Amino acid sequence: MAHASDHAAGAADLRGHLRGTTMAAHGLLDAAMQAAAGWHSRADYARFLALQHAARAPVEAWLAAHAPAPLHPPPQTPLIAADLAALGAASAPPPAPAPRIAALGRGAGAVLGVAWVLAGSALGNRAIARAVTRIGAGAWPVAFLGDRAMLAFWQALRARIERPCGPREAEGAAAAAEAVFAHFLDVARAGQGDLAAQGVGA
Ligand code: HEM
Repeated sequence: MAHASDHAAGAADLRGHLRGTTMAAHGLLDAAMQAAAGWHSRADYARFLALQHAARAPVEAWLAAHAPAPLHPPPQTPLIAADLAALGAASAPPPAPAPRIAALGRGAGAVLGVAWVLAGSALGNRAIARAVTRIGAGAWPVAFLGDRAMLAFWQALRARIERPCGPREAEGAAAAAEAVFAHFLDVARAGQGDLAAQGVGA
């Protein structure tokens, strides 16, 4: 868990620091995504996947341009596109506008913060996958939610973030992570991805 003093003195544990600084943003995002889409019907689930695709595409592009190989999470938009196709969606949506991603810094910790948000979301995805498998009686595709490559990346990333780091890296990582959460929230609130869900029956 992060303490207020972490900001000035660095973080005793970077993962704990990131969780602490983005906890409220994560709660808002979880609620906004469930309000905008959810996964209680095939059409809801297609909307959820389309939102994820629209939001992730620019973040993946940023990581492809800026992350060194060990901090480059496996892209998941191809898996989301495959799930959408299996659900019968017309096509995956285009990338959402991403001014906050374009404005991300390149300083200490920024890549770590961005990679942590995408990779850490695999933990939530594991829980959502169980719900989707139950509600869809095993018939809905879960290539994205059940992505083993991201879980493997997550395990490797843990070794890098479950340790102390200096104040510049802690602040850079937290600012970047907050920007990525805010970007996802923008996309969820704009309801991007509706188009791709068209044609998927409830
Ligand atoms: C859509 C609804 C979502 C639900 C229900 C959800 C649920 C969860 C849950 C249950 C955890 C904790 C898992 C555990 O500790 O075992 C978690 C962690 C996390 N989620 Fe989400 N999540 C959602 C969306 C997202 C999205 C869209 C992102 C990224 C943009 C995200 C990023 C994260 C991160 C970074 C963590 C923490 C990783 C860590 O412990 O270091 N989540 N989520």
